[in-house]
Amino acid sequence: MQGVFVTLEGVDGSGKTTQAALLTQALEDAGREVVRLREPGGTQISEQIRHILLDPQNDEMCVEAELLLYEASRAQLTRQVIEPALAAGKVVVCDRYYDSTYAYQAGGRGLDEALVRQANALGSCGRVPDATIVFDLDPHVGWGRAIANGADRMEAAGLALQERVRAAYLRLAAEEPDRVRTVDADGTIDEVNARLCAALADVLPELGA
Ligand code: TYD
Repeated sequence: MQGVFVTLEGVDGSGKTTQAALLTQALEDAGREVVRLREPGGTQISEQIRHILLDPQNDEMCVEAELLLYEASRAQLTRQVIEPALAAGKVVVCDRYYDSTYAYQAGGRGLDEALVRQANALGSCGRVPDATIVFDLDPHVGWGRAIANGADRMEAAGLALQERVRAAYLRLAAEEPDRVRTVDADGTIDEVNARLCAALADVLPELGA
């Protein structure tokens, strides 16, 4: 079996994590081996970096350090977990990957786009997802959900950042329509799941079975 690399994207509170769990279950039921990951994180080193990135006490972090920490976490995850899993024919479902860096650090924070793209190429070790889903949701809805249990450092940056993040995701989807597929995340869990499965049917035909 061939490895398949799927990444899930969207503003905070867009329901990615719930959908990642359902997708993983459906693929396992269809007999696939699945490695489910979330960024930043997924290795011991990456989890340590995650802690630095999301700690609300680190409010002095400059945007450049933020970018490089996300990329460092990603490079470690890519080499240590994603590449071996794909080589072994598994499906890798990753909750966020380099499109998050484009959306948040370029779109949200305003870092130079070309620079972020270069950093992404390094942080992902050149790895490109087979398909990327953007769960599209009005940030007014998603953000309320996301901060219901307290805001992490990124969420504390506020709603205006989430609006810019959403716009950046929509630009990406327009730029790379083959890879980046938008799924309307406004609906019940089952409705969104059906849209997700339809959007992945070409790379994961077992979802339609
Ligand atoms: P997390 O709590 O995992 O958010 P979610 O469950 O909504 O995915 O925290 C990840 C946060 O980090 C989220 O606010 C998005 C942000 N982020 C970036 O800003 N750049 C990145 O490259 C990545 C991977 C995440």
